[in-house]
Amino acid sequence: MNKPKVVVTRTQFENEMERLRDVSDLIIIDSPDPPNSEELKEKISGATALFAHINDSVNGEIMDAAGPSLRVIAEFGVGYDNVDVDAANERNIAVANTPGVLTETTASFAFTLMQSAARRIAEADRFVRNGKWAHFEPLDLLGYDLSSSVLGIIGFGRIGSYLGKIANDNGMKVLYYNRSIPEETYGAERMDSLDELLENSDVVSLHCPYTPETKNLIAKQQLKLMKKTSTLINTARGPIVNLDDVYESLSNGDIAYAALDVTDPEPIKMDHPILNLENLTILPHIASATVETRKKMSKMTVDNILEGLQNKLPTYCVNSEKISW
Ligand code: DGY
Repeated sequence: MNKPKVVVTRTQFENEMERLRDVSDLIIIDSPDPPNSEELKEKISGATALFAHINDSVNGEIMDAAGPSLRVIAEFGVGYDNVDVDAANERNIAVANTPGVLTETTASFAFTLMQSAARRIAEADRFVRNGKWAHFEPLDLLGYDLSSSVLGIIGFGRIGSYLGKIANDNGMKVLYYNRSIPEETYGAERMDSLDELLENSDVVSLHCPYTPETKNLIAKQQLKLMKKTSTLINTARGPIVNLDDVYESLSNGDIAYAALDVTDPEPIKMDHPILNLENLTILPHIASATVETRKKMSKMTVDNILEGLQNKLPTYCVNSEKISW
């Protein structure tokens, strides 16, 4: 009997690929760049499952290129905004993700960015590399203590609330803005509006999903509300923040610093003027990038696929109520 076809769009941990190889006809797209839409359409033809990554725009056309065999789209990550879930619903395709396993890693990374912004780590590193370290200077490269700062968290789900706990443990006052009231707040104070949070925070960190409602959530108007001394952290999704507006605000002193692990587009265009600013740390979407966490994400993505291949809805299916198998 023919084995079901499974397509993986990037190189992944080999032990997890072995688990798929045992039960499927496995295609791993290991070209240096992620597949473009044409390549993905060609590779996915006749597939039963797709192991997808954030770079892959998995829309109805891609699903139709797979054909009626496609049952599972398993996203390597908790955010699955690159997958058109409505199109998957219409085609009875289960979409699954990897919630939970990257909470601590991502939250602690956001805290690391806050620390590194407060202590001007990236800037100081460039200072040394550029030969500017002449002597010890008591008044140079001064940062500030996070423990006397207020953190405002936008989106108080798993990652946001865990960051709230870390910040609270480190002596920060924590505010949050979230539509629903979370079960555990670790002493954080709820703000009734986004504006109120922006006006009262020294550091603003984004932890909401990217949806049509959160596109450009932080743009010129919101940046104007932030303190001139404040820092913006984004480890969520690039399009939640308007990059051109952040550039303007950093340049004209509306905010003091930004640390961005995600941008719109990804990768950032190398001629974007924001890359010339000193008061910016910019990173290539690495918040969940530890060996331990990425291994867990890979395993969970494969588990989701294996369940689908056995005609079981994946444990971490995000559209289970729309699927009838
Ligand atoms: C996630 O899990 O959403 C990470 O950003 C990787 O896509």
